[in-house]
This record gives sequence, structure tokens and C-alpha cells, in this order.
Amino acid sequence: MPIEPFKNDAPTDWEKTENREALNKNLEYVRSEFGKEYPLIIGGKEVLKEHKLASYNPAAHHETVGYMSQADKENLEEAITAAKNAYEHWGSLTFLERARYLFKASKIMQRRKSELIAWQIYEAGKNWAEADGEINEAIDFIEMYARQAIELMEGKDLVTLPGVENHLEYKPLGVGAIISPWNFPIAIVTGMTVSAIVTGNTVLLKPASLTPIIAAKFMEIMHEAGIPDGVINFVPGSSREIGDDLVTHRDINFISFTGSKEAGLHIDELAHKRIPNQRWIKRVIAEMGGKNGVIVDESADLDAAAEGIVTSAFGYQGQKCSAGSRAVVHENVYDEVVEKIVERMNHLHVGTGTENNPVGPVIDDKAFNKINEYIEIGNKEGELVFGGNSDNTEGYYITPAIFKDVQPDARIMKEEIFGPVLAICKVANFEEGIDVYNDTEFGLTGALYTNNREQITYARRKMECGNLFINGKCTGALVGVQPFGGYYMSGTGEKTGTIEYLTHFVQAKTVAENY
Ligand code: NAD
Ligand code: ALA
Repeated sequence: MPIEPFKNDAPTDWEKTENREALNKNLEYVRSEFGKEYPLIIGGKEVLKEHKLASYNPAAHHETVGYMSQADKENLEEAITAAKNAYEHWGSLTFLERARYLFKASKIMQRRKSELIAWQIYEAGKNWAEADGEINEAIDFIEMYARQAIELMEGKDLVTLPGVENHLEYKPLGVGAIISPWNFPIAIVTGMTVSAIVTGNTVLLKPASLTPIIAAKFMEIMHEAGIPDGVINFVPGSSREIGDDLVTHRDINFISFTGSKEAGLHIDELAHKRIPNQRWIKRVIAEMGGKNGVIVDESADLDAAAEGIVTSAFGYQGQKCSAGSRAVVHENVYDEVVEKIVERMNHLHVGTGTENNPVGPVIDDKAFNKINEYIEIGNKEGELVFGGNSDNTEGYYITPAIFKDVQPDARIMKEEIFGPVLAICKVANFEEGIDVYNDTEFGLTGALYTNNREQITYARRKMECGNLFINGKCTGALVGVQPFGGYYMSGTGEKTGTIEYLTHFVQAKTVAENY
């Protein structure tokens, strides 16, 4: 089967009238779908539950995007049985046979891109570019994992011995759980799910409770692509109600989790407790939070640095695991950089994603309150030089807050806030900047602005993060270009979009045949 080389999906050109018109039509269409009820999907069957959770539009919280059925423990059992049954057939297909479903799914996603952007805008509070970028990432994951699965099918050639054929091949693990966060509600759901199924596993997908309708759209696409019943079982539900049972179930062989450090560590601990009649040591793949930062040296292009800091800190309201919520700046250029950052803020209008404002709402009232608490903490830990106002009468809006003169050990320099709050810290020299940057428990993304080659070499070795960007922002890693994932308390160190990532969902078996 001839397969074109991988290419990242192109961003939508919003200068084109037809693209803007298509989005406006889809915004109208999606709005007309507001308030619908969505079922669980178990073994291909739709299960509408009495217990449903409303998903609200964060830009206008009186609007209900949809009502999602909530799985209970009984549904979990049914879904695990369905996944086990489906595994019999799905796990026996070749990697190529499974990859073909993915290529089809990618085309469907491309066709529905404008509609999916509209769902993202309403349910996740993204603006056009953020929503578009996320669908591109989802499509890229599908295309990349399909190709890499085909590569994996070859297995590995081993050292040969006379008269013996040795071969290493990969087998799926069985049934797994996919547990995803709300902030990349389609890219991460897609990447986590397709990587697990293209390698032959069957799964229970438990999306985040704040963005389940977008996940339901993903399920529609997988269904249209012909993925057999029971391969992906859709079980949205409260983590309090079903989380522990899902993770500890005897027949769940792996858990692929993306979310907060707290939930990730809890799941990791539970998954590794021995259970009666255990036949399997559960694998846990955990992608967790970050406290990322941007270092600016005195030799840097200061306009580029200020631009990079603002984009890294406030893209999608700072609600990215990759968000750069700290700026660490050399004292000789400190005042100038602060000034340039603040200048740029006057262009960052706060408002709805439908009108494509650069800064939209934060996801819900809990996030709104938590971020406001951090703004109060910031007022004690630094000097507010911009923003910090908030208004939740219509949607959950917070004007990005910027604090300068923050000490390295301040809470807003150490803790993941997950909102539009930037702490700026002054350092006496470049090495001190690296030390301050490294002084967190996380290790996800980082950026350095400098024009000094020796510093670049030093930072490559010493800056502790899974994704380092030199003279560029620390968000927006592209599939295949900057494989994403952190270490330390940011995760178990996998890199999404790589063939090594896929190997977490398979086990290897060698066969030696003597002639
Ligand atoms: P969260 O940890 O609250 O929830 C993530 C998912 O885990 C949800 O589906 C939730 O229902 C589920 N969950 C929570 N507790 C559980 C339990 N005990 N058992 C089973 N499931 C449980 O995170 P969130 O608020 O949805 O997402 C934001 C967090 O995710 C941030 O910390 C962010 O940095 C992180 N994140 C990391 C990456 C990455 O690639 N490293 C990407 C996106 C988001
Ligand atoms: N890929 C996303 C980013 O880099 C998580 O921002």
C-alpha cells in the first residue's frame, strides 16, 4: 500500500473568506445542537443514562453545550467485557489492517475540521487559531501513529545464527484505560486513543468531565471510520465514582493518563498495588503538569523575547501544560523586557472565542476561583504591572495578570496555576537564570532567548525539561517536529508522536526457529 510521507496538517487560512464563512455557518450549526443528550457507547451500543452531567459554554455559562451520560460501576464492567470480546478480533489483525482505519479517520476529521473548531470554541473556550491548531494536532497524531504502527509491524531483525531464524515481533497488551484532560479535548483524546488501538489493544475511554461533547464527536468519527464495535468504549463519568475501579480492575492491563500531577501520582500508586489473581503488572503512561518558563539573557533579541513570553504565558489563557508562566530575565535588560511585555498586552483583548479574541474565558468556576486566589497570592509576592481583573457575570473572564520582582521561591514561581498569570523574576546572570528555571519539581517545557552560542550549549545540557526551545516560545510543539512530553513530576518521560511511544502499548516476543 503506497503511503505518502508524513506531513503536518496545514493551519486554516483565515484570510480566505470561504474559511471564515464556513466557520460562521458551523458556529450557527453547533449552537443549534446545544442542549442535546449524549450516550455512553459500550460494545457499539448507545447507552443513555438517567444521570447526566451538563457541559457549559465557559464564555456564557448559562448556555449548555450538551448533557453527557455518566457511567457507573456496572457500565464499567460491561465496557470491560465488550473490550475483551472485541480484542479477540482486533488484536489479531495486522498493524497495517488497523492503520487503514486510522487513515480513513484522519480524512473524516479533516472534512469535519471547521465543525470541530466550532465545538472547541463553544465547549473549551478556544479562539479560532487555538481550536484549529488542536484539530491539526489530532489529525497529525492519527497520521503519524498509523505510519509508525506499520513500521512496528516489521518487528526487529536480530543477530542471525547458522540454521536459525530469529525474529522479534510485537503483540498488543489487551484492554486498557484512556483517561484524558479537558485542555486539549480532541488532540489528546485522539492521540492517546489511536496510539493504543492501532497497536491492537481495545480501550475504555474516559474523557474529562468538562469537555465530554468534543470527545463524543471523536467517537462519531471513529464510528464512521468503521472501527469495530467494542474497540473504543466510551465511558465518561465522575473520577470519584468510577476512577479507582477503572484503574484497579483486574482486566485493565494499561492506563494511559494525561492530567494533573496529583491525579497522575494517585493513579500510578493505585495501579501498582497488588490485586488478587493478578496476572499482569499494569503499565502506566502518565503525562502530567508543568511550571514552564522563559529565560532572557542580556544578549537576546528583546522584542522576540517579549513576544515569546506573552504567547507562551497567555495562549489559551495559560491553560496549556506547556504554558510559560515564569519569565526569568537578566538584570541588565530587565526593565526593558518588562516594558515590552506590558506594551504587547494592550493588544490582547479579552472576550469570546466566537469573535476570535486573543484571550478567552477560563474553563469553569473552579478554575476562575483558583486563578483569582493565585492573583491574590501574587499581589503579596510581587508587583502587579498589568491586569488581574476578573468578571464572571457572563463567562469566566480574567484579564491576564503580570507580576514583576517575584522571588525564585515564591509560590507563583513554583506552582502550576493553569491560568493567565505570569511571574517575572530578575537574575544577576545567565547561570543564575538557569538555576532559577530548574528550581521546580516539574520538567516539561522551557525557552531561552540569547544570542550567545556558549549559553545555548550550556542550556542544552543544563535546562531540565522535556521540550526546550531556543529563541522561540515554549508552547505549540508540533507532532513529529518536537515530540512532546516531560520528565520529573511532569510525567513518565514518553514522547508523544514517536514510534517509541507506541512501544509502550505492545510487548515484544522473540521467536527462534531452527531449520
Ligand atoms: P485532572 O488530573 O483533574 O483530570 C485528568 C483526567 O483524569 C480527567 O479525565 C479526570 O476525570 C481524570 N481523573 C482525575 N482523578 C482520577 C482518578 N483518581 N482516577 C481516574 N481518573 C481520574 O486534570 P485536568 O484538570 O483535566 O487537566 C489539567 C492538567 O493536565 C494540568 O495539570 C496540565 O498540565 C495537565 N496536562 C498535561 C499534559 C502533558 O502532556 N503533560 C497535557 C495536557 C494537560
Ligand atoms: N502540544 C501542546 C503544546 O506544545 C501541548 O503546547
